[in-house]
Amino acid sequence: MGIERTVERVVDNTAHEEETEDEVIEQSLRPTTFSEYIGQERLKKNLKLAIDAVKKRDDGTALDHVLLYGPPGLGKTTMANVIAHEVGANLRVTSGPAIERAGDLASILTNLQEGDVLFIDEIHRLRRAVEEILYSAMEDYKLDIVIGKGPAARSVRLDLPHFTVIGATTRTGSLAGPLRDRFGITHRLEYYKIPEIEKIIERTASILNTPIKPEATEILATRSRLTPRIANRLTKRVRDYADVNGDGIIDAKIAEDALNLMEIDALGLDPADRNMISLMLENYGDRPVGLTTIAALTGDETTTIEDYYEPYLIQLGFIEKTPRGRVVTRKAKEHLNNLKK
Ligand SMILES: Nc1ncnc2c1ncn2[C@@H]1O[C@H](COP(=O)(O)OP(=O)(O)O)[C@@H](O)[C@H]1O
Ligand SMILES: [Mg+2]
Repeated sequence: MGIERTVERVVDNTAHEEETEDEVIEQSLRPTTFSEYIGQERLKKNLKLAIDAVKKRDDGTALDHVLLYGPPGLGKTTMANVIAHEVGANLRVTSGPAIERAGDLASILTNLQEGDVLFIDEIHRLRRAVEEILYSAMEDYKLDIVIGKGPAARSVRLDLPHFTVIGATTRTGSLAGPLRDRFGITHRLEYYKIPEIEKIIERTASILNTPIKPEATEILATRSRLTPRIANRLTKRVRDYADVNGDGIIDAKIAEDALNLMEIDALGLDPADRNMISLMLENYGDRPVGLTTIAALTGDETTTIEDYYEPYLIQLGFIEKTPRGRVVTRKAKEHLNNLKK
């Protein structure tokens, strides 16, 4: 069955709920301006244009609502921070699962100020009743609330300040159509290119005050799953390794040794990824495997497979989605065989 899960996945790209040391570092590394935000050029261009237009109009209208989607760790939360900063607005942060009742959303909305940016992470997990309140708030800046109970109940309509919702989700598929339609700007974040990841690693190393050799940056970049969050995690781990086992400088040997110790291979796969592919191959060979079966094999939730394992494996061409399930490709088999040699 699945490998031991007691070891924390270094390539885990979730943002942890509690403030771990990683979280604190993540905060300190988070870019706050367009110029610091590396890559995603198309998104930046579109947003800059929209922001400039709002500033030029200067008639009290807020920036269009923005929906950002794509795999975890690619910079959705970071972009929400950048947008608020560039607009010169306050950023209020909440998430789909955190808003339990319609009343919770009502109190968030009535506390907003003109021009504020409301960031709703994991917006696909909003409850139906909450979602419905959000519709009219986003569309006409009105809040419909019911006061009282039973025959005495009456509905009142409150005016809200002009505000901007930035929604983030790993899956637009599970977002209700009417909600999706209320976003004027919808954008998918793409995996980063290697040179962009290299820039992020260089930036992070310099913020951490750690010298890094170009060959080491290259090695780290190819193993970061084209994902900034993982690039930052790996850089930090390798920095720690360099402090303990070297003179604090990250060179190619230190980077290789540290990554080998973490069992992260040349493509950035860790034991959990390799385990999943091996289990699929052992049990199903070339046949398609259903998502729930994969989850049963590895002992993970289906959402974990869909959000955290699969996107990068699909990007690599190691797994293909077919109507009848997921298939392991020849490319993946070759990779695993090469590792055994
Ligand atoms: N474009 C970028 N340039 C530089 N660093 C980035 C970029 N995108 C993300 N990061 C870094 O990666 C970390 C994770 O990004 P985050 O915005 O939390 O991802 P998401 O919300 O999509 O899961 C951030 O702390 C930030 O330091
Ligand atoms: Mg996030």
